[in-house]
Formats: sequence, structure tokens, C-alpha cells
Amino acid sequence: MKDGLIITLDGPAGAGKSSVSRHLAKHLGYTYVDTGAMYRAIALAADRAGVSWDAPEALAPLLKTLTIEFRQVEGDNHIFLNGKDVASSIRTPHISSGASKVSAHGVVREHLLGFQRSLGERGGAIFEGRDTGTVVFPKADLKLYIDASSRTRAERRYKQLGEPEELSIDDLQREIETRDEADKSRKIAPLCCPEDAVVIDTSELRFDEVIQEILGHIQGKLQPVG
Ligand code: DC
Repeated sequence: MKDGLIITLDGPAGAGKSSVSRHLAKHLGYTYVDTGAMYRAIALAADRAGVSWDAPEALAPLLKTLTIEFRQVEGDNHIFLNGKDVASSIRTPHISSGASKVSAHGVVREHLLGFQRSLGERGGAIFEGRDTGTVVFPKADLKLYIDASSRTRAERRYKQLGEPEELSIDDLQREIETRDEADKSRKIAPLCCPEDAVVIDTSELRFDEVIQEILGHIQGKLQPVG
């Protein structure tokens, strides 16, 4: 017997997936699983060990030495790599690009797949990523796909970063488009919208409007049939 729904939320970088997933998980009392953070932690570990993000044969033995887990820190979900909190170290543009690169290798994706599925065994969880509705939980109770124009996403990222002088919105937009292209065109588990997903374009929507729309779909799934 499961304790709640399995909800997947996929989409490109910067579409608002994390804030939406975090908010929904708190509201519903569900577990929030940020699968992107797992790829970021592996990219960070490789960087620290001097292992190339483009060399799956060198990444394979490294993976065996890593422990990745989530722990609550002041009410927030933090990722721990080999027992150390790396929640902020994984959020740099350098590691974003590394995460996109390591995530293209089958050996890395297979390594994480069992762990990701085990976190959903009891239900009551929201999984955020690129392939959570297509590969990780193809039978999820509710699949969401969140998108927004690359300009909107770059503008939001710029604000989130505190409008730094050394960066421009154009730079961020280019970085986002490069990563989208890599994530969508890779051979294994590319970013794509699951056929049976509810698609929400957040370009013209406020945060609370996005949440309201999703809660409507969740209600529909929780209501007993008949
Ligand atoms: O969601 P994010 O920006 O933290 O993800 C970082 C990278 O990890 C992203 O560019 C592609 C990869 N990723 C993936 O391949 N599959 C997932 N389910 C989640 C992330």
C-alpha cells in the first residue's frame, strides 16, 4: 500500500521546476527528490578527483566510491556527497555544465536509476528532473512537464543570482540554450515531454497560478473514482 502519489516533473533548465516541486512537496507533505542534484554531485566528485566528465571509463570506478544521500537541513533538502553537505557547491555554472556532460553516459544514468526508484517505493514523492516521467517512473500517477521560453528562463536566473554586473541576460540565455540542446539530443534518456504529461508553459504565469493549476490536477488524481 502506497502513502501517496508518485508525481514527476520534468522540463528544461530554469523553467521553475525546483521552486514548484519544493512548494508542492511541502504543501502535500511529500518527499521531494531533486534528481538533477545527483548528477551535479557526480560532476563535482569527478571535478575534485580530476576525472574527466567526458570519460565514462574513468567515471565508472569513481562512482563505486561515492555515497549520495539527501538529508534535511533547516527544513530544506540538502544533498550529501560522501557524508558532506554539497548543496551549495553544486550550484555553480561550471558544475551545471559538468552535470549535463556526465548525465549523457549510460554508466552514470544506470548507477542512479535504482537509487532514484528506491526513493519512490512508498509513494508520496515528487521527482524533479529530465527523464523522471519517461524513464525513472514511466507509470507515475501524475506527470508534469514545465517549460518557458529561454529568454524568460534567463531573466529569472539573472534575478535569482542577484543581477550580477559580470553576467548578462544574453550570456545566461546562451548557456541555457546550449544545455537544453545537449540534454535534448543525447542518446540515452534525452529530455523530452512524456506523452501522457500535463504540459504547463510558465512564461506568462505567476508562481501561484502554476501551483493552482497543478493542485487541480493532483486533486483529480486523489479523488476516488466512481
Ligand atoms: O535540473 P538541474 O539543472 O539541476 O540538472 C543538471 C543536469 O543534470 C541537467 O543539465 C541534465 C542532468 N539531468 C538529467 O540528465 N536527468 C535528470 N533526471 C536530471 C538532471
